[in-house]
Amino acid sequence: MAIHDDPRQTDLRWHLEEIDFSCIDSGSVRARDDIFLLVCSASFVESGAETYTHNLVDYFRGDDEVGAWLDEQWKVEELQHGRALKTYIQQVWPEFDWDGAYADFFSEYGKLCNCDELEPTRGQELVARCIVEMGTTTYYQALNAVSDEPVLRDIAWRIRTDEVQHYKHFYHYFLKYKEQEHLHRPHVFATLWRRVAELRKSDADIALRHAAAWRFQGEDEAPAYAAIQKQVYDLMRAQYPTDLAVRMALKPLQLNARLQRWTERPIAALVQRVFLN
Ligand SMILES: [Fe+2]
Ligand SMILES: [Fe+2]
Repeated sequence: MAIHDDPRQTDLRWHLEEIDFSCIDSGSVRARDDIFLLVCSASFVESGAETYTHNLVDYFRGDDEVGAWLDEQWKVEELQHGRALKTYIQQVWPEFDWDGAYADFFSEYGKLCNCDELEPTRGQELVARCIVEMGTTTYYQALNAVSDEPVLRDIAWRIRTDEVQHYKHFYHYFLKYKEQEHLHRPHVFATLWRRVAELRKSDADIALRHAAAWRFQGEDEAPAYAAIQKQVYDLMRAQYPTDLAVRMALKPLQLNARLQRWTERPIAALVQRVFLN
């Protein structure tokens, strides 16, 4: 089925069909294991959105505005991100068994996607979702910056634009629940700090591990996983937009200028430790 045959998807900012995968300059990127791992691990996490969305929709049952947006816009866009990245992998590295590797990834990742992982209140969960979207926005911005291949740069920027919009939606809904739940800064800060600290150890790391295992399986000279991790994060470090990450992480705290300045430094240190070490 063509994507635009589905009436729910008419509001998407872009469609997979608009990307001309035949224009990929495969020769410039095929030998880059680091780019492969960044794109492949992202494709796994994005493709797993379906499971997580069910949990979120259940959590917001009774709130038709949030539930409809999650189901009809957010999930559809996240899955399109997964399809775009998967298609890119299959074009440049056709020998890679994406479906096999994804099934392996999902057997571990799927177990994490249960309601135990959700925050204790809806307002706090919306803070957590803002942090996740901050993580994806900055990831794709860095991926765009470290890539030389024009089609990949285009895909990364399109996805980055969607992730910013996801952040804005979650933030808007957060403001509603903050009032309802009388959430104060210490609650928001606790959620924010914990979720920033957890960003890398959860889905991104599981995805990277499975992408690497399937990429190098059977190779006599397969690199150690620690070396792979270091190579990938070293690549991202030079282009990682730390200032943007800090601004997006702090926004739910609604700080005045003086408090904002006071808080930026510890959050920047945490972001750099989580993403870049
Ligand atoms: Fe996404
Ligand atoms: Fe997103």
